[in-house]
Amino acid sequence: MERAAATLRLFFALWPPLDLQAKLAVWARRAAGSGRAMRRENIHLTLAFLGATDPALLPKLIALAASVRFDPLRLSLDRVGYWKHNRIIWCGAEVEPPALIALVEDLRARLSAAGIRYDRKVFFAHLTLVRKALGVEDAAPRWVPLAWDVRDFVLVRSLEIEGRVSYEVMQRFPAAAG
Ligand code: 2AM
Repeated sequence: MERAAATLRLFFALWPPLDLQAKLAVWARRAAGSGRAMRRENIHLTLAFLGATDPALLPKLIALAASVRFDPLRLSLDRVGYWKHNRIIWCGAEVEPPALIALVEDLRARLSAAGIRYDRKVFFAHLTLVRKALGVEDAAPRWVPLAWDVRDFVLVRSLEIEGRVSYEVMQRFPAAAG
């Protein structure tokens, strides 16, 4: 008997370079307290969360994302925060660059036009650093703003193996040559 194809858990994101992820992970560990610091390789900024998606839609998704035109941008990660409702410690930008907002709007409009389902929660640029946190530890180092030059966005698959979440970058979509 043929088994139904399993769905893929997908999202679009900005993926920080390794050295930036490493700095964020160090801070996260020291700010976490009893919370769960994100592992270095899992730190990212979500642009659009699709969730369970039919793998047959992959070619369409990739073509759609490849048609998004956006300019390279600089993100200044200059603020940290704590959300009580989901117990997340995050970092983000005081000012979301217009090029980032345009990228998210274009990507989401194309998903909508193609009838692809995604979480329509209002976009708020953030990178989750700690989950299940009770707040930012007093022992956390002072936050030093970090500059991030964004040159592409990615399509990511989320995998859970033995209760451990890992992310696989499936495809990169470069910014217009700057
Ligand atoms: P978060 O960091 O604020 O939890 C993978 O789960 C990524 O998709 C995370 O960055 C998560 O944001 C984001 N995301 C957005 N909407 C989501 C949803 N409805 N369910 C799970 N993750 C979601």
